[in-house]
Amino acid sequence: MPSRRCAAAAAIAIAFATAAPLSGARADTDPEALVNALNAVFGAHPGKRAAHPSGVCVKGSFTPTDEAAKLSKAPHLTGKGPWPVVGRFSMAGGNPAAPNTQKDIARGLALHIDLGGGNQTDMVMISAPVFAAKTPEKFLELLQTIATKDKAKIDAFFAANPESTRQKTWLNAGPVPAGYATTSYFGVHTFTLTNAEGQSRIIKWQLMPKGGEVGLTDEEAKAKAPDFYKPELTERLAKGSAEFDLTAILGQPGDALDDPTALWPEDRKSVAIGTLSIAALENDAACDTNMFDPTNVVDGIAGPENDGIFLIRPAAYAVSFSRRNQ
Ligand code: HEM
Repeated sequence: MPSRRCAAAAAIAIAFATAAPLSGARADTDPEALVNALNAVFGAHPGKRAAHPSGVCVKGSFTPTDEAAKLSKAPHLTGKGPWPVVGRFSMAGGNPAAPNTQKDIARGLALHIDLGGGNQTDMVMISAPVFAAKTPEKFLELLQTIATKDKAKIDAFFAANPESTRQKTWLNAGPVPAGYATTSYFGVHTFTLTNAEGQSRIIKWQLMPKGGEVGLTDEEAKAKAPDFYKPELTERLAKGSAEFDLTAILGQPGDALDDPTALWPEDRKSVAIGTLSIAALENDAACDTNMFDPTNVVDGIAGPENDGIFLIRPAAYAVSFSRRNQ
């Protein structure tokens, strides 16, 4: 397990939203069924995302290290930067009123990195190294089971699919993050980085706060307002930018490639890729009038080929995007 310490445009989205169920590695799960299942568990909240409904839009920049170009020829990893960034911190799940003090749901961080000329690349990460289901079918089954509110059925699901308990266990083992800027974020899926010489490495992304992770004790968390993250971030940014180190955790032969519930061994080496600097809050419209797409990568970075969760995400996001913009 990685150490806690160390550590589209609207038109495209709507086109995705009307796409047929995906096939092959993308499985037979209908992205719309996934969004309906999220709504069945958390309720449908008009104008809000079906998942990660509450959040804070921010802006800043990304600056790569010299090491980054050795791993990838992607423009933002080879060019000097700083590259402008628009991002959104969020609370996972689908309840817009989920308190910022809730320990067992992940925090999210989504980024658009502006590459110039109207191009951008995205990263969509959470504060846990694993997701709650191995495949879209399993995620649908998990949501539909939770929606029954039948404890015996829910217990039976987790007994039959122990990998789906890993995320919650990981989150509950740590403290409530003291703020959006004081926790680490993970890309969860594996990516292949390819450099200008054509050499490739399998990696996983991790963003770590430069000031270290800071958590609250259970007592401290109890004393906080349910929505304390936005004022905390506002106050923090008034004093200076919030900075994160982006690292690439290097995979080794035998590491799971297509399973977002799988942890890589803790001893994997990391390479420093760059600094994400969050400078200020941004108007919500900059985050809400388009969608963050984890599959929006550029030449030099490729997503996993057979990870059904990764592959279905943009289609599910597009369903949510088109509904929240109706
Ligand atoms: C099949 C699996 C998944 C489904 C069905 C799903 C569904 C969704 C949906 C419907 C949204 C709202 C999109 C929008 O309206 O723009 C969303 C947002 C988000 N998801 Fe997922 N998700 C899945 C997996 C993941 C994974 C594996 C991660 C992390 C690695 C993740 C991280 C996020 C984040 C950070 C956001 C908020 C993006 C924003 O701020 O706009 N999701 N997800």
